[in-house]
Amino acid sequence: MAVSQHASVRKTVKEDLGAIVEMIQELADFEGMSDGPKLTIQDLLRDGGFDDGVLSNSVPLFHSFVLELTEQIRTGNKGKITSCSSNDEPLTRTTIIGYAICFYSYSTWQGKSFFLEDIYIKPNYRKRGYGELLFKTVAQHALENGCKRLDFHVLAWNPAKYFYNRMGAENLTESEQWEFTVCQGKKWMHLPKTIPSGSKPLKS
Ligand SMILES: CC(C)(COP(=O)(O)OP(=O)(O)OC[C@H]1O[C@@H](n2cnc3c(N)ncnc32)[C@H](O)[C@@H]1OP(=O)(O)O)[C@@H](O)C(=O)NCCC(=O)NCCS
Repeated sequence: MAVSQHASVRKTVKEDLGAIVEMIQELADFEGMSDGPKLTIQDLLRDGGFDDGVLSNSVPLFHSFVLELTEQIRTGNKGKITSCSSNDEPLTRTTIIGYAICFYSYSTWQGKSFFLEDIYIKPNYRKRGYGELLFKTVAQHALENGCKRLDFHVLAWNPAKYFYNRMGAENLTESEQWEFTVCQGKKWMHLPKTIPSGSKPLKS
């Protein structure tokens, strides 16, 4: 039995969203934050503009790519895979083995930018150059769409740091002492209530 493999990156379609939700959870497990992911397929359908405009925001809130592995299995006359046709056509199997999710952002220094929120390759398929293929495809998309930079965050202990380094990334925490901060949860929800009365911003 001969197996040939070919990996390629394509834009996500709505049928991929189940696999993406699973991989978002796998990435959170890998990062030791299993309780983090809260999004459902419905959220991704709406926010990625996959629901044919019925519920979507007018502009997709994120852009997404999947890495797909295509395997062709040729059994030859003595093979055991019975689903091959009688004239020995190869059996083709496609598997989604990684994804990237990104969105447009804006730098007041450089202008239009792209933010890489997630990049993930399933464990059995790492260290084969697939992460590089996916990352470079994201960079190509950003450049072709006029972006001046690609931003992303990485946990300090994550060996992905070395991967990003090899992709030419600069660690801004080291070079400029940036800290990564967020407003979320109850304190965030409460913020508007602390605006002094009489100075509430006008609703748009
Ligand atoms: C980070 C990640 C996306 C990289 O994907 P990958 O497919 O392993 O990446 P590559 O194979 O292109 O490169 C990884 C390493 O394998 C090496 N490599 C590439 N092809 C290889 C091959 N054929 N044989 C052996 N090693 C190979 C590369 O030299 C590279 O070394 P580096 O660690 O110094 O960069 C992947 O490891 C991953 O999903 N990690 C878990 C999730 C994660 O941390 N995501 C980032 C969150 S910020």
